[in-house]
Amino acid sequence: MYFSKLIATGACVPKTVISNQKLSELVDTSDEWISSRTGIRNRHFAQTENASDLAIGTARQILSRCQIAPEDIDLIIVATVSGDYTTPSVACLVQAAIGAKNALAFDISAACSGFIFGLSVADKYIRAGIYKNALIIGSELLSKYLNFNDRSTCVLFGDGSGGAMVVRSDEPGLLCEALGSDGERGLSLTCGHVPTSSPFNGLPRGTDPYVHMDGRVIFDFATRTVPKSVEEMLEKQGVGIEDIDLVVPHQANSRIVEIISRKLKIPMEKFYLNMHEYANTSSASIPIALNELVENGRITPGMTVLFCGFGAGLTWGNMLIRM
Ligand code: ACO
Repeated sequence: MYFSKLIATGACVPKTVISNQKLSELVDTSDEWISSRTGIRNRHFAQTENASDLAIGTARQILSRCQIAPEDIDLIIVATVSGDYTTPSVACLVQAAIGAKNALAFDISAACSGFIFGLSVADKYIRAGIYKNALIIGSELLSKYLNFNDRSTCVLFGDGSGGAMVVRSDEPGLLCEALGSDGERGLSLTCGHVPTSSPFNGLPRGTDPYVHMDGRVIFDFATRTVPKSVEEMLEKQGVGIEDIDLVVPHQANSRIVEIISRKLKIPMEKFYLNMHEYANTSSASIPIALNELVENGRITPGMTVLFCGFGAGLTWGNMLIRM
């Protein structure tokens, strides 16, 4: 019987930091409004890099931290909603850049739950005995989709990338998961609409690149669906709250995380928050946080860590892992 285990992490974030104060010079907002409602103080915005550059930076860092040669990678999955191109995928661009010439590479679109969906797909390939070494990355260049005339959305997001190497193991690493989707509420958070048009239907060309969001619907979804899904998952697995060492939630909003903490009765001290520095980087937010925790020694081998992803689609992905 095969299991999958996470053996190395990495991240790559643009250098340019835009504070709430800096943003308020452009948009009618304030540090007080943004930080009190979301916990966000800074975000990193790319200058010239695209999503693939950040993903490649992450991939190189992960490779430098594990004993796996690029040609031994079987699978590359990049979770992104803001790739450089509609095609080729960011995963294929990563494959070429790192020389992983034997890998199957593709992107998945599950917004802020994307990294968890990617881990889940890799886990199935590994458990089925099809692949041994999988590189999973979340990479987003959300700044290019932000409407800086819409203060209700442009203050919330940032750019970045993070990821992990997941390999075949004799012991369970990815312990259990609860993933789901609710397409009925999908249009409450959209990004990058390309309408139907061609010279043969008379409809004009034109795209709406921007993020649009009904913040209240998303808030309600995240604070109801995530705790319920986590509770059901832990009960099914027979895992108690006390067995969880750390929680790495999607870094959308500190108020959402506080409500999840309260509902799950897991103290806030166990939740890792870094949205004050990066804002919401969608699929990259959990792996960036995970990488920070590994780098600063707060996550060590043997610890049990809960990931809580939730976002557009709508989608959610909760997963319990043993490091
Ligand atoms: N600065 C100053 N004022 C603002 C800003 C801003 N950036 N944005 C909105 N306002 C104003 C509004 O215009 C409104 O003013 P009005 O009452 O005069 O009309 C007022 O603030 C309240 O606006 P609401 O949208 O009702 O604010 P709310 O308290 O709901 O907070 C927020 C908005 C923070 C987005 C909240 O709905 C939320 O946290 N939603 C969750 C959404 C989220 O986290 N999305 C991330 C992406 S999805 C994901 O990753 C899961």
